[in-house]
Amino acid sequence: MHFANPVAVSAGFDKNAAAIAGARRLGSGFVEIGGVTPRAQIGNPKPRLFRLAPDRAAINRMGFNNEGSDAVLARVQAAQNGSTPLGVNLAANSDSTDPANDFIALVEKFAPAADFLTIDVSCPNSANGQVFLDPGALADLLTRLNATREASSGAPVMFAKLAPDLEDSHLSELLDVMLAAKIDAITLCNTTTARPDSLQSNNAGERGGLSGAPLFEMATEMLRKVYARTNGTVPLIGVGGVMSGADAYTKIRAGASLVQLYTGLVYEGPGLIQTIKHDIAERLTRDGFSNLSEAVGLEHRS
Ligand SMILES: Cc1cc2nc3c(=O)[nH]c(=O)nc-3n(C[C@H](O)[C@H](O)[C@H](O)COP(=O)(O)O)c2cc1C
Repeated sequence: MHFANPVAVSAGFDKNAAAIAGARRLGSGFVEIGGVTPRAQIGNPKPRLFRLAPDRAAINRMGFNNEGSDAVLARVQAAQNGSTPLGVNLAANSDSTDPANDFIALVEKFAPAADFLTIDVSCPNSANGQVFLDPGALADLLTRLNATREASSGAPVMFAKLAPDLEDSHLSELLDVMLAAKIDAITLCNTTTARPDSLQSNNAGERGGLSGAPLFEMATEMLRKVYARTNGTVPLIGVGGVMSGADAYTKIRAGASLVQLYTGLVYEGPGLIQTIKHDIAERLTRDGFSNLSEAVGLEHRS
C-alpha cells in the first residue's frame, strides 16, 4: 500500500465515519474509522470518557457506541477516493453470542469498500472485546476471516490490534498465530487497564482504558518487542501516547512503519498532525535519510 505520509488519527476518533474528509484535511496520511459493530449499539452509560489533564492522558470506557455497519458502510463508500488509504476498525457487538460470526459478517460487508480492515481484539470496555486474546480462538477466527477475504471481491489488507496488557509468553503465542495466518500488519497498541504510579489526576481511578502520555513508554516497548520478535517482516503501526514529532520518530525508530494518535489531539489541538509531519521530515534530514523507510526499526540496527 502507498501512504503519502505516515501519520493518522487512530480508531475511536470517528466511530461513525462522519468526518473522513475532515481527517484528511488534518493531514492524515491514511484514515481509520470505527470501531464498527454489525448492529448499532449505544455503548456504556455516561460519563464514560475522562480527561486526566495533569497527566496529558484520558480514560475511556465508551463500549463501542456506534451507528452500526449499514449506516457506516454507506458513508465509507461515499468517502472512498481511491487515494488516501481508508480503513475500518471492526468489533463484535457486546451482546453477541457468536462474536466470530460478527467479524465474518463485517469483513464480508466492508471488504469491497475499504483498503484495510483492523480486527480489534484488544478492547477493554466491551463484553466481547477480548475473547480472541485466547490463541486458539484467534487462530480459528483468522483462518475463517482469511477464507472470507479470499471469497470477497475486495480482499483488503488485514491488520490486527493488540493491547499492551499481555504477558510476554501470551504475546509470543498471539504473534505465532498472526504470523501463521499471514496477517498483513499489527497495530500496537490499544489503551491499557494499567494505572502507572505516576498518575496525578483525580480521574486516575476511573474504570476503562488509559491513553495519552503515560501510555507512551509501555506501548513503544511493546512495539520494540514485536519488531524484534518478527524481525521487521510484518509492518507495524505504532500508536499510544504520541504527543509530538519526537514521540512519532521514536516509534518509527522502534519499528513502526506508520503512526497513529488520538489523545494527543485533545491536548495539542488539530494542528498536531501537520506539526508531527514537519518534525519527522526534519529529523529524517538531520539523520541523513532520504526516505522514511530507512528509519523504520533503526534502533534495532544500531
Ligand atoms: C475515546 C476513545 C475511543 C476509542 N475507541 C477505539 C475503538 O473503537 N477501536 C480501537 O481499536 N481503538 C479505540 N481507541 C484506542 C485508540 O485508537 C488508541 O489505540 C489509544 O487511544 C492509544 O493512542 P493515544 O494515546 O494516541 O490516544 C479509543 C481511544 C479513545 C481515547
